[in-house]
Amino acid sequence: MQITHSIPELRAALAQRGKPAFVPTMGNLHEGHLSLVRIAREHGDVTVASIFVNRLQFLPHEDFDSYPRTWESDCEKLRSQGCDILFAPREADLYPEPQVFKVQPDPRLADILEGEFRPGFFTGVCTVVMKLFSCVFATTGGGAAVFGMKDYQQLMVIRRMVRQFALPIEIIAGDTARAEDGLALSSRNGYLSADERQQAMALSRALKALAEAARRADAPLAQVEATAMQALQAQGWQPDYLTVRNRSDLLAPADTSARANLPLVALGAARLGSTRLIDNLEF
Ligand code: PAF
Repeated sequence: MQITHSIPELRAALAQRGKPAFVPTMGNLHEGHLSLVRIAREHGDVTVASIFVNRLQFLPHEDFDSYPRTWESDCEKLRSQGCDILFAPREADLYPEPQVFKVQPDPRLADILEGEFRPGFFTGVCTVVMKLFSCVFATTGGGAAVFGMKDYQQLMVIRRMVRQFALPIEIIAGDTARAEDGLALSSRNGYLSADERQQAMALSRALKALAEAARRADAPLAQVEATAMQALQAQGWQPDYLTVRNRSDLLAPADTSARANLPLVALGAARLGSTRLIDNLEF
């Protein structure tokens, strides 16, 4: 695996290698990321991963400084999966001057759910992903990029961005990797105490129960969601949202019995102690 830090180094490494398949990450890699790398290997001539903890997508009180940085083991894991090129820009490589040009996603999609509780998050994500796409694909005439379904709203926002800017990049979704008890794998799971880890599967269970109740369609959706929030609160969590949305636009579905047959997704974000976890379930 070739390790590159600057944009010229990356572009030199990509020269004559064909179409890249790219997995952007913030490091602290786990099986979820590695499964995306395995998907990437089947969708390009050269597999590229990036590690960059993107300051622009963190609010001032969030965990940018303490976000786990595990360079040696990340490199080892990427090598073990047959990743060809790792792009690990330093902050000065990606943001050599203040990044005043930003990609502003559609607020109807980006200011709800995660965007409501983390204002500006998707502007930070879109700006860095656009820039990473430029680093990886501008000299290769496009390719493919793989994103995890765990960050469901992020995946939708990126797909829209690629479509609206007519980027020659195929966006591929990778399934959420889960621990045996159902907990979605996440770098932030590492913040959980042993006790919290025992309780952490409650979020995926709450989403399953929410999806089942929404399918039954025998009560208004707002009531079903409120019951789900209360049940999680009673287990010591502080939920930001537990909600059922259309898969197509992440808006609330029409609250009629027709919802029993719509393609829906249950999405949740909740804090256990000081750790904020997100998850989702299509149904
Ligand atoms: O999902 C992530 O890890 C990040 O949001 C991404 C896509 C790497 C952008 O920083």
